[in-house]
Amino acid sequence: MEPDAASGRRTAEDTLIVALDVPSRDRAIELAQSLQGVCRWVKVGLELYLAAGEAVVRDLTKAGFSVFLDLKFHDIPNTVAGAVRSAGALGASLLTVHASGGPEMLAAAADAAAALPNPPRLLAATVLTSMNAEQLHATGVEADPLDQVKRLAGLAMDSGISGLVCSPQEAATLRGQFGGQTFLVTPGIRPAGAAAGDQKRAATPGAAISAGADMLVVGRPITAAPSPAAAADAILAEIRSALGSQ
Ligand code: C5P
Repeated sequence: MEPDAASGRRTAEDTLIVALDVPSRDRAIELAQSLQGVCRWVKVGLELYLAAGEAVVRDLTKAGFSVFLDLKFHDIPNTVAGAVRSAGALGASLLTVHASGGPEMLAAAADAAAALPNPPRLLAATVLTSMNAEQLHATGVEADPLDQVKRLAGLAMDSGISGLVCSPQEAATLRGQFGGQTFLVTPGIRPAGAAAGDQKRAATPGAAISAGADMLVVGRPITAAPSPAAAADAILAEIRSALGSQ
């Protein structure tokens, strides 16, 4: 995240990441072109990466976007360390692993990233924003989402990963717990009146910023809008106003 060079302050454009959850390279590039000059950050997740491969990460980087490669690695430590090394060569700026992979896996990921010549910032995903207490308990986790997020965030921090993915509903708690030591990225963003879809722990862009999020991930409210650029502009305006009152 590059703060505004003149003021040193974070701008709305530094803060918004658009999730390009689309099934083809052509659709991703078309969307990215429609957002050029409006947004700086895009996210490549499993759907797009598996359809278009590493070339799309390079194409988006070449087009001037900073790329969040969100493949959420979750495997044995040796495999995740190798995946971090392979992903590190693609030019992405942000990369995710699952915090629930445990301390050894997280430390292996952190070590692998640290050894890269140009390391991406690692983010540990805590509890998916699509999960509520019922969904979480169904996996055998007795804790409620907030407690589990706090536990996984602590694991990640202790293992050398200070970037965390959480819902906007936990951002204030984690900011209170870790202060400026952590970097918080929040999906589960829904402008007022937008369809929640499968997101269960959601909040508005302004509420996420006020809760202490560093960056927001927004997918369908932008990508499924009649004009993605206009939808992104409206969200940027809301972020700008929330940043202004900080
Ligand atoms: O379309 P929507 O705004 O719900 O997209 C949210 C994006 O953030 C998706 O790409 C999803 O994979 C990602 N994400 C999430 N919850 C997490 C981590 C990532 O929704 N905990």
